[in-house]
Amino acid sequence: MDKKQGELKNLQSEGDLNISPRRTAWTREHINAETQHWLNEDANFFIHQSLSTPCLNVLAHCDGIFIEDLQGRRFMDFHGNNVHQVGFSNPRVIEAIKAQMETLSFCTRRYTNIPAIKLAQKLAELAPGDLNKVLFTPGGTSAIGIALKLARVATGKFKTISMWDSFHGASLDAVSIGGEAIFRSGVGPLLPGTEHVPPPDAYRCLWDCGGECNLRCARYIEYVMDKEGDVGAVIAETVRSTSLVPPPGYWETIREACDRHGALLILDEIPHCLGRTGAMFTCENYDVVPDMLVIGKGLGGGIFPLAALIAREELDVAPDTALGHYTHEKNPVACAAALAAIEYIEQEGLVENARDLGAYALGRLQTMMDTYEIIGEVRGLGLLMGVELVKSRETREPARDEAEQVMYDALSRGLNFKVTMGNILTLTPPLTITKAEMESALDILEECLAQVRS
Ligand SMILES: Cc1ncc(COP(=O)(O)O)c(C=O)c1O
Repeated sequence: MDKKQGELKNLQSEGDLNISPRRTAWTREHINAETQHWLNEDANFFIHQSLSTPCLNVLAHCDGIFIEDLQGRRFMDFHGNNVHQVGFSNPRVIEAIKAQMETLSFCTRRYTNIPAIKLAQKLAELAPGDLNKVLFTPGGTSAIGIALKLARVATGKFKTISMWDSFHGASLDAVSIGGEAIFRSGVGPLLPGTEHVPPPDAYRCLWDCGGECNLRCARYIEYVMDKEGDVGAVIAETVRSTSLVPPPGYWETIREACDRHGALLILDEIPHCLGRTGAMFTCENYDVVPDMLVIGKGLGGGIFPLAALIAREELDVAPDTALGHYTHEKNPVACAAALAAIEYIEQEGLVENARDLGAYALGRLQTMMDTYEIIGEVRGLGLLMGVELVKSRETREPARDEAEQVMYDALSRGLNFKVTMGNILTLTPPLTITKAEMESALDILEECLAQVRS
């Protein structure tokens, strides 16, 4: 079913949609009969939803920075759902998984295993401050759920402050603190006491900071805490995937406000942990240590679903509550994959690569602004980059149709990325990417920007 571009606005916050006319046109031009057969079968058996089924294409292979479709076309993957810190099919991760599968392939509850213990030790060692106690879950959303429960138990308060436009997962508790209509609307009552505040978006600031954040958005959080009086936790993405990078002082201001009000600070770094922002954990770009850090996605080496809650030692206060109780809580194969991925990140200097190559790429994107009027702003931190397309730099009206044009054109030329908020080209390549690969991806992007028509 095609929908008119205007009707899609509210649905586009998390990613481009499968119900847009441009999607239909791309499919007509690029998908052959065999691929279409499998796409039809997929659509027959999977429940349809706007961000996935019916799908775009069928994949047959992935390696390094590439995904490859059934028709043998290879795409540099600047999306990868942010699981691909160590690249796809990383040989060292695969080797570790195979070795673990041949010894202990599962761990029945009430037992533990050495890979799980070693991973917990490693995360405690890497995480800042006294973030030393962990719980694993099979996905990020469930780790967020545990964080919310633990915050309630530890503080005796259930109210939270989180941000509009944020994403913390698709379950009912996660969408209650999330801030996107596509997940929240039409699903009935959400959790009570989940207050929302505007995100730190200097480009579209509610307080009209004019692009130079004056931290009023951060101070507003303390205002809400004052008015509510019993907020238990502030939960937010340290840096939003739309590459909203809060300025220095932002998290420090909120940390201090939390301390003054007896609220916990929970930072969701599920998509960007383990190096993407040029630091092992995103909060290390700021002078703060949260009370809980939630990580996931690439933690399983881009192969296994695995997430973790890393909490301050003092928060180990719920021995009589079942916080997680997940079947795959201490899956030894997932933990072996994670240990191999972290070792790879450390040995190959991927955090440094993210920082250096990210800075280079950001510079090149900023230079493109001189030529392409359609670019309203370029933002980024490490290998998390966003290019905001606008109809006019003055009005900042989002250029949604143009963003979709660029995305599908880039796809046709071998570069895959997603569009968030309808107009932000969101670029998150594997951290293993080389400078030459980055150059060719940016060349493609530039060719597409040159072609775009309003
Ligand atoms: C910031 C953030 N939090 C939570 C999640 C949910 O993680 P998962 O899909 O592993 O449940 C995601 C997934 O995209 C995310 O980006």
